[in-house]
Amino acid sequence: MAFLFSFRMSNSINLLKKFSQFNDQWSPKIIAECNGQLIKLAKIEGEFVWHNHPDEDEVFFIVKGKLLLKFRDKDVHLKEGELYVVPKGVDHFPVADKECWVMLIEPKGTKHTGETDFELSVDEKDQKWI
Ligand code: NI
Repeated sequence: MAFLFSFRMSNSINLLKKFSQFNDQWSPKIIAECNGQLIKLAKIEGEFVWHNHPDEDEVFFIVKGKLLLKFRDKDVHLKEGELYVVPKGVDHFPVADKECWVMLIEPKGTKHTGETDFELSVDEKDQKWI
């Protein structure tokens, strides 16, 4: 039974090792799936675009660096080790002065930039598993 059970167990995932496997920015990589949520890593630097996800909350967890999440009515400054949940439907605009490493958690099917067309948007089907 222990052997059968082990088939369902995943391997441990080392976030820093995963981050060492890519360098492209604003291009989320998928590292795990849990209850219909995808766990993704991204390196981001500079300004993204105003967007929202009408039906999905989005978790930002800062693994390295600092991230400014701009909202229409406030700025939220996040630093390494901090987490923020952007509620569904709320406009947000991520900005990082220097490269920042983030872990994102969002449901499968979440559009990268919601309904906003943007040159840096990556379709989920084009987001690679690493
Ligand atoms: Ni978003």
